[in-house]
Amino acid sequence: MAKQVISTPVIRRLPRYYRFLGELENENIERISSRELAQRMGLSASQIRQDFNCFGGFGQQGYGYHVKALREEIGRILGVQEHTGVVLIGAGNLGKAVATHLDFRKRGCELVGIFDSNPDLSGTSAAGLPIQPMTQLETFCRAHQPEVAVLCIPKGAAQELAECLVSLGIKGFWNFSHYDLKLNNPTIIVENVHLGDSLMTLAYCMHHRDEE
Ligand code: NAI
Repeated sequence: MAKQVISTPVIRRLPRYYRFLGELENENIERISSRELAQRMGLSASQIRQDFNCFGGFGQQGYGYHVKALREEIGRILGVQEHTGVVLIGAGNLGKAVATHLDFRKRGCELVGIFDSNPDLSGTSAAGLPIQPMTQLETFCRAHQPEVAVLCIPKGAAQELAECLVSLGIKGFWNFSHYDLKLNNPTIIVENVHLGDSLMTLAYCMHHRDEE
């Protein structure tokens, strides 16, 4: 099967395909046409065909897509079977919510440590893990070698902390801090999350909904 470089917009749609295909599997649907899948997902059938062609097609003329096989392949591309070690820094309101409500394991990651600079939080726990003081971070990273850090700390602390984490072997950041990290190493991956942007997209759509 020919491999192609997958573009970022396609990569961004993959988790959504994975989720919808999981719902189809739960409904015991074995195959689906691009037209039906498009209807469910609010995309066009040609968009779906184009996206799936990026990793070999999968569809057969007149048969559609084999739901289980397609989901497995997308899962493989997303790396959901991996167990990438993750540390979460900042166990405040957001950090605790992320640690508690998100199933990291289903998404190829394993939350292995939670850290916070507030001494009052030491000895407490979240998501079944102890909240550790920052003084333990280096020893912990050397022992467990996590590759991803979730930053749920205030903006002002993000840059210095990120540089420290890179020196401790962190290769990717899930960055909620609202600060654009500037890291010298181009191989470090940063995924910024701004929930407010999503809300503003909704606000725009509400504001312009009568224009079409
Ligand atoms: P919070 O004040 O409840 O929690 C922040 C935690 O970070 C505290 O427990 C504090 O002790 C800890 N902390 C501060 N500096 C630290 C450092 N240098 N090292 C380790 N721990 C440190 O705040 P909340 O509500 O949890 O928000 C956290 C950050 O996330 C804020 O900057 C907020 O603006 C941002 N945020 C981002 C969202 C997004 O969509 N990206 C959504 C909501 C909040």
